[in-house]
Amino acid sequence: MWAKVGGMSKEMESNGCAVTSLDFPFAPLLCIAEGKIFQGRPLGRIGNQPTKEETMEYRPLGRSSLQVSALCLGTMNFGRGTSESDSIEIVHRALDAGINFIDTANKYSNGVSEEFVAKALADGKRDRAVLATKVGSPMGKGVNDQGCSRFHVIRQVEDSLRRLQTDHIDLYYMHVMDLATPLDEALQTMDTLVRHGKIRYFGVSKWAPAWTAEAIALSERHGWEKIIAEQPPYNIIDRSVENEMLWTCRRHGIAVVPWAPMAGGVLTGKYRKTGTQPEGSRFREIGGRLTVEAIEVAERLSALADEKGCSTAALATAWVMRQPVVTSPIIGPRTVAHLETALEALEVEITGEDRRRIDEINPPGHAVANYYDGNIHRRLRGAIGI
Ligand SMILES: NC(=O)c1ccc[n+]([C@@H]2O[C@H](COP(=O)([O-])OP(=O)(O)OC[C@H]3O[C@@H](n4cnc5c(N)ncnc54)[C@H](OP(=O)(O)O)[C@@H]3O)[C@@H](O)[C@H]2O)c1
Repeated sequence: MWAKVGGMSKEMESNGCAVTSLDFPFAPLLCIAEGKIFQGRPLGRIGNQPTKEETMEYRPLGRSSLQVSALCLGTMNFGRGTSESDSIEIVHRALDAGINFIDTANKYSNGVSEEFVAKALADGKRDRAVLATKVGSPMGKGVNDQGCSRFHVIRQVEDSLRRLQTDHIDLYYMHVMDLATPLDEALQTMDTLVRHGKIRYFGVSKWAPAWTAEAIALSERHGWEKIIAEQPPYNIIDRSVENEMLWTCRRHGIAVVPWAPMAGGVLTGKYRKTGTQPEGSRFREIGGRLTVEAIEVAERLSALADEKGCSTAALATAWVMRQPVVTSPIIGPRTVAHLETALEALEVEITGEDRRRIDEINPPGHAVANYYDGNIHRRLRGAIGI
């Protein structure tokens, strides 16, 4: 059933949006089917089967009214494992499937990822995308070649705009929690970029919840633009965000756009506890994030996926996509085939029993590999010399 509604949908309310007003000016077209609410285009149906474009779900980016697809296309592989032509094909296939949210960074392949994205969005496709990029990771060896200082950010935004061949970035993330830059300098710089039309919204990545809450209070005090999105690691192997970050984001109407929903490939089930790891894959041997416990989680998830008749990768991605407060997990395909697997997640239902089984595999808030701690707690410890 298609219905035009004037208020905010259940999905919107459950996506960390702290705004409760029903005065939502651009009421989207909603499809209510099997108790789920999808936002999409009710056009071009073939037979009785809705196409992927029709069933793509769109969600508001935090407390904004900007609609982003429930899956975001990550492009970290572009320019390293993924050639230019494959990168372009991946972007086009994603757009065709209804994905309108694309994630890149100045750092990815030293700007080559941004250049490939620009080529893929040439010929009028730019306006179909909510284009996100990031600043803050090291871009050179100089003392001012990283971080969130006004000096570095304003230089980098111009470089990203040039590589992306666009006059504005839709969502600009501070890629790291730069504790050396005064918070007011970083926030005021983002506010300036919004006011100058260089960016539309800004977000953060891997910021400690206490730092984020302080930033929100500071922006409110000065009337500056506020953080609209956080990009943390979140997957069935590392559920640390569930302890504080998800609550903080819901409290402040911040979209949660998690990376590594497949734990960098571990949750595809392709890694083994012993022997040689798959040729060409990210992890070469046990160590770092590829822990024995993580592989055991993947094995148990694969058994559940077999019972459900879907791939482990799609189940892992669907679970993140359906977790409370999550807006849009970022998938990171290296090949077009990887993208097709990720798109299957849109069709995987997560039942209450599935949630219970997954909580048994790895309980809420628990981690068996080091994504969150290594990125967030390590920085906080480092700042006080521990
Ligand atoms: N803000 C941040 O700090 C941050 C950090 C990391 C990533 N990100 C963003 O998040 C995106 C996703 O991160 P991620 O790459 O870690 O996500 P992911 O989806 O958890 O992992 C992607 C990897 O999984 C493997 N894979 C995917 N589909 C597969 C399949 N069907 N069969 C076998 N292997 C498959 C591939 O590994 P192989 O290439 O090894 O085959 C692929 O590179 C990135 O592109 C980037 O945009 C942000």
